[in-house]
Amino acid sequence: MADVTLQHKPLITLSHKALANWVMETALLCEADSIRWCDGSQEEWDELTNELVERGTLIRLNPELHPNSFLARSHPSDTARVEDRTFICSRREGDAGPMNHWRDPDSMRSLLIEKFRGCMRGRTMYVVPFCMGPLDSPLALVGIEITDSPYVVVSMRIMCNMGERVLRKLGSDGPFVPCLHSVGAPLDPEQKDAAWPCNDEKYIVHFPETREVWSYGSGYGGNALLGKKCVALRIASTIARDNRWMAEHMLIMGLEAPDGLKTYITAAFPSSCGKTNLAMIVPPERYRDMGWKTTLVGDDIAWLWPGKTGKLHAINPERGFFGVAPGTSWQSNPGAMHAMSRNTIFTNVALTDELGVWWEGLSPPPAHLIDWTGNDWNPHCGRLAAHPNSRFTAPADQCPNIDPDWQNPEGVPIDAIVFGGRRPTTLPLVFQAFDWTHGVFLGATQGSETTAAATGQVGTVRRDPMAMLPFCGYNMGDYFGHWLEMRKHIQRLPRIFHVNWFRKNPNGKFLWPGFRENMRVLEWIVNRCHGRIPGHETPIGWTPDWVDFCVDGLDGFDEAQFDAAMQFSREEWLAEIMSQEEFFLRLYHHMPKELLCQRELLMARMA
Ligand code: OXD
Ligand code: MN
Repeated sequence: MADVTLQHKPLITLSHKALANWVMETALLCEADSIRWCDGSQEEWDELTNELVERGTLIRLNPELHPNSFLARSHPSDTARVEDRTFICSRREGDAGPMNHWRDPDSMRSLLIEKFRGCMRGRTMYVVPFCMGPLDSPLALVGIEITDSPYVVVSMRIMCNMGERVLRKLGSDGPFVPCLHSVGAPLDPEQKDAAWPCNDEKYIVHFPETREVWSYGSGYGGNALLGKKCVALRIASTIARDNRWMAEHMLIMGLEAPDGLKTYITAAFPSSCGKTNLAMIVPPERYRDMGWKTTLVGDDIAWLWPGKTGKLHAINPERGFFGVAPGTSWQSNPGAMHAMSRNTIFTNVALTDELGVWWEGLSPPPAHLIDWTGNDWNPHCGRLAAHPNSRFTAPADQCPNIDPDWQNPEGVPIDAIVFGGRRPTTLPLVFQAFDWTHGVFLGATQGSETTAAATGQVGTVRRDPMAMLPFCGYNMGDYFGHWLEMRKHIQRLPRIFHVNWFRKNPNGKFLWPGFRENMRVLEWIVNRCHGRIPGHETPIGWTPDWVDFCVDGLDGFDEAQFDAAMQFSREEWLAEIMSQEEFFLRLYHHMPKELLCQRELLMARMA
């Protein structure tokens, strides 16, 4: 220990022996030069961002355009989550299930210890106390991320409660999830550091029984900001299963009707379905004039538990957005644009000549940019200026319609859960499940078509149950079982819906205008939740009647087009049921019988 210097002592006396021991053991294993306990203060942010600018990791943006904001460019090999290098190391392989990559925990631990040995040589080791969820929420979960990346430290400050107040909450013996992260790039004394150090070999490893995360080799997003996907979804899903709550990959939003009735909903979608845009939807003018308001609680993750009202209550465990930049604009998502107007870290977007940022879909392309790889760019060069997975990391409370209760420790009461997918055929614009079990079946079979069939035929559907495919920390079949089990503990069950904004006509044209107009579908959902309108019973669930679905002011959208968007085709549904079979078979040994039965019932209703 003699040569590890303590740069900053914890500001409160650290009486937590288990934490102190783990930090010291880790410093010795990783051979860090020094240890810095992060307090989450503005001074610390200023010091670290200045240091990152000096090293070339961050570029300070024009303060007139983007106050206190920065651009980072990652190594071109480190631009996304690495699902094939993500492991669930439960004792038994069957507990991880066929949808996860499993490794034996003992052999993985031995392998990782060797990877981490000496991996922080020449670097500072930062100790980042963080808390997912409001500090005083019954579900609040404390983690400690040890990292050698100052970019991770400043990003974590945006994404979660971080620093000294978390140590205070932890006290002298509170539980915490140990999260060890290294970019895997030790530095020799004379060696110049890379602007984005990382390692070609990556490991994103979860030990669900001991509730630990070890991440090696990447500095990007979900691989490195361990509070998000690793803790708040993969580890939290196992904690939730054991403690009767649910950790879900869902947005949370509020919908206030003109009569003041407030309805909260959660929604889960596979990627590329516009989840962030829906979370931050601004109602069309007509709806605003009528008095509709929308609010945002969370854009990515929801933790749900049976709350005091007898309903499921939801909190957003995060405090920031880590949103995809391309496609985001003042037209498509003004809420996100406001949120990222200051105090934001952009990663892998393009830099303008005024030291502003640009990405595809933001505005007409400027004549000259520096692209995400640091090279000159012009609109005719044939390359993308921003990486397709470029991101903004921005504080959620900078979104103008953040819900007044978004940090309420008791969460917000949920009336509806919405599933969906990108389905050019088969699935109607919206329908409601008959009951909870049928709703779980809808979530379990949701997915997006990977090959968009122009006519009739169902393309290949990539099933992404509850949008949790890469994020469930245990066997997906057992996860369905947990959803079914939760039914017994919720007195006032939310209604469950399925939406599809992406259905096409035989000429490949979308049948529904989407974007803000999705508010009309949300209105129908709200009305159904409160029993304000009847539904129409069909073999697949309850659907809207034309007379109950508001299309006022929607130019050219007539009853025939509504019918096309809602159309039920027996042939398409039979193909859909057949294509579910393969997925169900993969999970067979853990698949709850109730869901197999739902499939049989659906088939019987078709007959
Ligand atoms: C995300 C994801 O980045 O789901 O939120 O991949
Ligand atoms: Mn997500």
